[in-house]
Amino acid sequence: MSQPDPSFIRLQGISKHFGDFVAVDNVDLDIGRGELFSILGGSGCGKTTLLRMLAGFETPTAGRIEIDGVDVTTVPPYERPVNMMFQSYAVFPHMSVEKNIAYGLRKERAPAAQIAKRVDEMLELVQLADFRRRKPVQLSGGQQQRVALARALIKRPKVLLLDEPLAALDKKLREHTQFELMNIQDELGITFVVVTHDQEEAMTLSSRIAVMHKGRFLQVGKPKEIYEYPCNRFVADFIGTINTFEGTVTAVDDDGIAIESTDAGTSITALGQHDVAVGKPACIAVRPEKVFIGRDEPSDSSDIRMRGVVDDLAYLGNLSLYRVRLASGKIILVSQQNRQRSAERYVEWEDEIWVSWRPRSSIVLVEDR
Ligand SMILES: Nc1ncnc2c1ncn2[C@@H]1O[C@H](COP(=O)(O)OP(=O)(O)OP(=O)(O)O)[C@@H](O)[C@H]1O
Ligand SMILES: [Mg+2]
Repeated sequence: MSQPDPSFIRLQGISKHFGDFVAVDNVDLDIGRGELFSILGGSGCGKTTLLRMLAGFETPTAGRIEIDGVDVTTVPPYERPVNMMFQSYAVFPHMSVEKNIAYGLRKERAPAAQIAKRVDEMLELVQLADFRRRKPVQLSGGQQQRVALARALIKRPKVLLLDEPLAALDKKLREHTQFELMNIQDELGITFVVVTHDQEEAMTLSSRIAVMHKGRFLQVGKPKEIYEYPCNRFVADFIGTINTFEGTVTAVDDDGIAIESTDAGTSITALGQHDVAVGKPACIAVRPEKVFIGRDEPSDSSDIRMRGVVDDLAYLGNLSLYRVRLASGKIILVSQQNRQRSAERYVEWEDEIWVSWRPRSSIVLVEDR
C-alpha cells in the first residue's frame, strides 16, 4: 500500500504567460497520493495549460513542480512518472483494441510475455476483453474512451492526467463511465488529476476540486465544502443553483450577521463570523433545497421568512421545483422533495405561500477575489 502523502504533487507559484497573456496565474496546489482531484472551470480558464505543465509539455513561466518529492519543473514529459489522456483522446484508428493498449509498452520494447500479460489485465480492467480484436471504428464512444484509458494506464504511471475524459460521451454513458473511472482509480490507487468544465461530473468523481477562473484558483476543497461553503459569488454560481440577496449590513456579532435586503424586502441573517462591517453592502445566498415552502406561516421565529406567490412549478417525480415571486418582485427558486403521495393540498400555481429557511443555511458571499 502506498503511504498517505498530502503533497505528492506540489505546485508552487506556477504561472504561464503566452506573450502578454496570463493563462495560469501564480497557482499553489498540493495533491495527495491516490487522490482523484478535479480542476473545474469554464472554457479558456487555463485548465489544459495547467495540466500540460504537470505533464511537461509546457514549461512554466514561473514556479516549481514537484512529484513524489522530486523537482520535475524542467524534466521532459517522458521522464516524468506521469501519463496524460488528451482532451481529444486519440486512439489509433488502424490498430485493434489490443494493439492500441499495448502501444506504450511496445514502444519501450518490453518483453512480449510481459506485454501480453499487461494487455490482458488492462482489457479486464476496462471490460473490453471481448472486443480485443476490433478496430476503434467498431466501438461506441464510451468503449473508445476506455481503450484510451487502458492505453494511458498500461505503463502504470504514478499520476494520470485526464483532460475532459468524458466530454465526448452522452449523458447516460458519461454517468456510467464516471463510476467506472472511480472504480479503476480506486483499484489501482493511481493519483488522477481530471480536468472538466462539468460541475456535476466534478462533484461525483472527486475527492477534491479546484475551481479555476481566469488562470487562478478561487477555491480548493471537498465537493461538499465547495457546494455548502462557496468562498465567493463566482464559485457559488458556478456550482449548482443559488438564490442571492443583496443588502446592507445592519448587525455583526460573534454569532452571525444580519443584512437589510431590498431584494427580499426584509432582514436576512446568517450564522458564523464574516468579514463584513455595519453599513456596508453584502450578499447573502441560499440554495433552493434549503428553502421550505408552505401555506402556513413558519412557527420558528428565528427562521428567515418571506411571503410570495408561486409563479411557476415543475413536478419532477422525486422533487418539485418552484419559482416564487416575492412582493419585491424578486424570484426565488425552491426545490422540495416529494415525500408524501397525497397528504394535504399541494402548493399550486398562483398560491400565496411562505418561503423560509434557517439562518444556518444562509451563505455570506464576498466579492470575487
Ligand atoms: N500556445 C498558446 N499560445 C497563446 N495562447 C494560448 C496558448 N495555449 C493556450 N492559450 C490561451 O490560454 C488560455 C487558456 O487555455 P487552456 O487551453 O488552458 O483553456 P482550458 O481551460 O483548457 O479551456 P477549454 O475548457 O476550452 O479546453 C486561453 O485563453 C487560450 O487561448
Ligand atoms: Mg482545455
